[in-house]
Amino acid sequence: MIKTINSLKKTINSFSPKNKEDLEVFRIKYLGKKGVLNDLFLEFKNLPNEEKKTIGAVINDLKKAIQQKVVDYSDRFNEVVIDSTVDFSKPVRLNNLGSRHPISIVKNQIVEIFNNVGFNVSDGPEIEDDWHNFSALNLPEEHPARDMQDTFFIQTNPDVLLRTHTSSVQVRYMENNKPPIRTLSPGRVYRNESISARAHCIFHQVEGLYVDENVSFIDLKETLLYFAKEMFGKKSKIRLRPSYFPFTEPSAEVDIYWGLNNEDDYRITKGTGWLEILGCGMVDPNVLTNCGIDPKKYSGYAFGMGIERIAMLKYNITDLRMFYENDIRFLKQFSSI
Ligand code: PHE
Repeated sequence: MIKTINSLKKTINSFSPKNKEDLEVFRIKYLGKKGVLNDLFLEFKNLPNEEKKTIGAVINDLKKAIQQKVVDYSDRFNEVVIDSTVDFSKPVRLNNLGSRHPISIVKNQIVEIFNNVGFNVSDGPEIEDDWHNFSALNLPEEHPARDMQDTFFIQTNPDVLLRTHTSSVQVRYMENNKPPIRTLSPGRVYRNESISARAHCIFHQVEGLYVDENVSFIDLKETLLYFAKEMFGKKSKIRLRPSYFPFTEPSAEVDIYWGLNNEDDYRITKGTGWLEILGCGMVDPNVLTNCGIDPKKYSGYAFGMGIERIAMLKYNITDLRMFYENDIRFLKQFSSI
């Protein structure tokens, strides 16, 4: 049997097909169902056990050599024939370049606007502990205001939760950095809300924090007015309404003037012309203390907004769920931005 195999090896080594068809005939002859190799394996089955080991290895080598030959030549025969009439130096046509998601577009705009007045960007975990999401922010256990944000807890451990706002990142930032602090925390947040055109269990926020000596409410108001003008146009107006957040005192909700020019404006603003875009306030001294900052020396302001809401206003999107459906017809509309 060894002799047969050796002579087969020689034939195979010296074989050189001229074209694809030659190669295919060769392949079928040796590797096909009723091919030479198959016969060899059948013969192999009847060998005495002592011989099986050596002969088996030799047959396998032969099989590999045949397969290699087929692979080598098929690569060669399948080479692309270069058409000399095609200009390969031409730039590629970028037909389906894809586009940024509107949430990313708006997030980048917000970050840029605040970068220009000295805010950096900070990041933190989406899976948080109770301290960073609640307790450090002046929301001790059993505080009724915890109900303001329906929270997803990890069932087996109530200390582990999905962050309900990116204020948690601000706590982490204050714990690890000394004032002056000017930081912006964009990110994904989670709340246990039923999904509708106006609410989702997952959405995105940008929160801002400024802590330094002598920071006052007027700094907050001017910064937010600057933001509104950059984001929605130079003519934008804002108004602040007193509100409540456990981590800020005093607190306010900020509306921008949207106008009442057409029926849509009436619908969107419920007939007032004003639209709420964010929450803000002066950082509560307790929060500064919790984060290791002396409230006698420093004061600060904080604000937070939902990116989806800003994007809906900017692009006239009426259903929040569209951001998460990844419908190509929706996403394609943002390709030129
Ligand atoms: N964390 C608040 C929220 O998620 C927003 C906020 C941030 C309000 C900072 C005031 C100051 O609703």
